[in-house]
Amino acid sequence: MGAPFTLKTPAGLLIHVPMSAPEPSTAPCKVYIETYGCQMNVADTELMYGGLVESGYAVGTDPGDADVILLNTCAVREKAETRIYGRVSQLLRFKYARPDLVLGITGCMAEHVKERLLERAPYVDLIVGPDAYRRLPDLLEQARAGATVIDVQLDKTETYEGMNSARGAGVSGWISIQRGCDKFCTFCIVPLTRGRERGTPPREVLRQARELATMGYREVTLLGQTVNSYRYEGVDFAALLRSVAEIPGLDRIRYTSPYPVDFSEDLISTLGELDNVPNYLHLPVQSAASRVLEAMNRGYTIEEYRRLVGALRAQMPDIAISTDVIVGFPDETEDEHEATLDLMREIEFDFAFMFAYSEREGTLASKRIIDTVPPPVKQRRLRDVIALQESISERRYSRRIGEVVEVLVEGPSRRDDGKWFGKSADFKTTVFDTNATIRAGDLVEVRVDRCTSHSLFGTTPAGREQR
Ligand code: F3S
Repeated sequence: MGAPFTLKTPAGLLIHVPMSAPEPSTAPCKVYIETYGCQMNVADTELMYGGLVESGYAVGTDPGDADVILLNTCAVREKAETRIYGRVSQLLRFKYARPDLVLGITGCMAEHVKERLLERAPYVDLIVGPDAYRRLPDLLEQARAGATVIDVQLDKTETYEGMNSARGAGVSGWISIQRGCDKFCTFCIVPLTRGRERGTPPREVLRQARELATMGYREVTLLGQTVNSYRYEGVDFAALLRSVAEIPGLDRIRYTSPYPVDFSEDLISTLGELDNVPNYLHLPVQSAASRVLEAMNRGYTIEEYRRLVGALRAQMPDIAISTDVIVGFPDETEDEHEATLDLMREIEFDFAFMFAYSEREGTLASKRIIDTVPPPVKQRRLRDVIALQESISERRYSRRIGEVVEVLVEGPSRRDDGKWFGKSADFKTTVFDTNATIRAGDLVEVRVDRCTSHSLFGTTPAGREQR
């Protein structure tokens, strides 16, 4: 062969052809995928494995004996990307031992950083964005032949309809019903890493949900960046939810994450009516100051958010609500921070994911807004919201003491020997003792006798049958 060269295909694919490519191996090729980030990535890893297995690859469980190692990455914060650079340099030792090993980066960081990733990690063989997984088997073949492959083409129509995810036996499964995001919150990188919003056709969602039910799964979670803005032709999220809820065998239909502006009256009443849609909702608020919400481009005022919570609680008085909070957004004043604390006291979220704002390269906020809040102030505000939420969570969880809650068993407790754990319908981790013979996937009744701000603890009442 001659000198190395790079090919660019019409699809934007860059293929680096080296001086000499090794002979293609005929041995079964093991792929090991490590997943970072949110549930969308967990579902995408199953999707990638599915496509690869159908193309003759085997699933690897140990990077040490894999032929291909992929890191399915997140880009939501700079820290997430720094972690991947660290991990990929650790994995380099396997490449020293086996030069034919393919090391690849997929997911949101691949999409965000693109070929610049090679500046810091030149030994990476493959960079593949979230809309190119259908092509992954072909791309891997090229990488195994010695090429450096980059495919970060976004695709406004790709929903992976017809692709089979590799899902083993399980209790709770994921279905991506929507990809991409059109909301453009100014702090968020996701529209850049996952492209425009598109709904998976209902026929595909129902195919996957039926398949999970047939495999013995008892719970599905419908995933979307703003899941309740789902639309496919004439079908909206409420209609889709009703169809999925009719599938026999699925005891719990969850969904995440809904966006506050996309709750129709029909959706709120549907949530209240469907018995197998649990009494739990993740409703990101981010801030309680309407000025900050506007700067974030969230599309609602705090009064509208309050009215939505009121409407949800009018329909479902016991609904558990969790949220996301960002403190220290550029220009956030002390009064605006206090307003967020007041809202948390008023609404009493069951739990919250809380973050100090940090600028993310490429986002609208990083281009348009100067961050004026000093890091120590952000950190102090973060401590404020965490301390407050801990006390609220403990109070919310303690209301369950003395009650019997239905728990979907996930397995033996990892921390408490001899105990089991699962989730209550309102999404509280529940650890319990039992004398009954149970297994993962059972629905059991647990009498709650104590709690922390993160878990319920109890016992299955004697003589109660699980189902
Ligand atoms: Fe999820 Fe992180 Fe991408 S949160 S959508 S994996 S940027």
